[in-house]
Amino acid sequence: DEDLDIELDDKQLQLDLARVDKTGTALTTDQGIGVDDTDNTLRAGPRGPSLLEDFHLREKIMRFDHERIPERVVHARGSAAHGYFQPYDAALAQYTVAPFLTDPDTRTPVFVRFSTVQGSRGSTDTPRDVRGFATKFYTAQGNFDLVGNNMPVFFIQDGIKFPDLVHALKPEPHHEMPQAASAHDTFWDFVTLQPETMHHLIWLMSDRAIPRSYRTMQGFGVHTFRLVNAEGRSTFVKFHWTPVAGVHSLVWDEAQKISGKDPDFNRRDLWESIEGGVFPEYELGLQLIAESDEFAFDEIDLLDSTKIVPEEAVPITPVGRMVLDRNPDNFFAETEQVAFCIGNVVPGIDFTDDPLLHARLFSYLDTQLTRLGGPNFPQIPINRPVAPVRNHQQDGFHQDDIPLGQANYHPNSLGGGCPFVPGAGLTAPDQNTYVHFREQVDGHKSRKRSETFADHYSQATLFWNSMSAWEKEHIAAAYQFELGKVAPMHIRERMVEHLNQIDHTLAVTVAAGIGVA
Ligand code: HEM
Repeated sequence: DEDLDIELDDKQLQLDLARVDKTGTALTTDQGIGVDDTDNTLRAGPRGPSLLEDFHLREKIMRFDHERIPERVVHARGSAAHGYFQPYDAALAQYTVAPFLTDPDTRTPVFVRFSTVQGSRGSTDTPRDVRGFATKFYTAQGNFDLVGNNMPVFFIQDGIKFPDLVHALKPEPHHEMPQAASAHDTFWDFVTLQPETMHHLIWLMSDRAIPRSYRTMQGFGVHTFRLVNAEGRSTFVKFHWTPVAGVHSLVWDEAQKISGKDPDFNRRDLWESIEGGVFPEYELGLQLIAESDEFAFDEIDLLDSTKIVPEEAVPITPVGRMVLDRNPDNFFAETEQVAFCIGNVVPGIDFTDDPLLHARLFSYLDTQLTRLGGPNFPQIPINRPVAPVRNHQQDGFHQDDIPLGQANYHPNSLGGGCPFVPGAGLTAPDQNTYVHFREQVDGHKSRKRSETFADHYSQATLFWNSMSAWEKEHIAAAYQFELGKVAPMHIRERMVEHLNQIDHTLAVTVAAGIGVA
């Protein structure tokens, strides 16, 4: 069906314009000038000084000197692939105007980046860590980024704590250790002082934190988002990716050995399976919650990213599938330069007031200004939408487009620029126009949150109770291993006290392994 492939081809055709095949061509400078010798500097005589006029030497060294850009402040190590997403049917049309979720004839191109969180760009693939699962959908209505993780909850409830969390998690400032591991003093000091981390922590101690393959890993949007339909009605939504190949993890002993023998273990697996035609596949599922049920859950606030909405209460509705079928051509140009942003949403998808989400809305755009060298990073081929971009943004470092015309402002009467039809009167999004959900907001300014945010243990206990005997053994052993590397005894003791709130047997078992009475 040719129609099916139009949008898919659009992204690949766009990338084709940027793909450059240099094989077999004669060497030139950046100015296109043929080079006679690239191994010997121009010198004054065989034993004389090098000459400044050797423009080939200067350019070659200058380009090398500037190859590095800042790595991501978190999720620095990652691997990515191209593919597509296709919904099963039109069932979601009652909830959202977004065609990529409701038109079963549309295959939307995607670029997915999987990552670890703590380690630097050159670190290992198999530490005990959270994994990122970030998907850029190049929809006909613009880019939608679902920037998720492989665990359904997050460490903190409010983004204002994120710098503290990451400072504590990353290698310690005085000696830059440990690389790619959470088994160290500052991490456990912070988390034991912030008990809201307890639910995510127990996921981190489980085998979910050492996935065998990116092909066998779940993904979660974590926050509650909204779908919005043509009448302006909103439905709360939680996004879930489920790998078709099942969820598989390493065991800790394997993970440590692999880390030494093949630090690229997950990266290699993703690359080789796609090269070999074994395409990773994931089902997208949604938990949908009516706006009227916002307060139907006594023990959780939908704005609290440290809690799940149990599937017993809200089952997952399968929506479509994603297939990853093409490796990037160039790691830096694509995997490294891709810029995900949780604020990239299309008509029919909107935000809630989750305070973690709101900090993220600022953070990604902000960090990418530095990481990708100025405001024009959306023009980098991997970031360009397939939807046309028309506005009066201009100039700045790395402007790749050549905008035509005289009028670069709105409004204008010179017949140029981008005609803009004010959306006044539009109360709901249509397929192509983003109208923010008309949420009614009323309240006194304050830094307080609702009471259920203070329950830090119930869902950690729920998770523990849902584990089989051998999974419990792995979790207890993980706490022992990690805490056994923490020098100050008071931090170990504080953690055991938290564990005692989750499960007494777990606390006693862990305590026995780490010298806590
Ligand atoms: C990457 C900030 C919470 C998932 C990043 C980056 C920053 C950041 C600055 C680097 C982006 C770049 O350089 O392009 C934050 C802040 C958070 C937060 C401030 C909390 C307030 C989360 C949560 C999730 C998440 C809750 C998962 C639901 C990711 C992923 C990436 C990432 C997957 C890697 C994106 C990629 O592959 O390029 N985050 N983050 N983050 N974050 Fe967050």
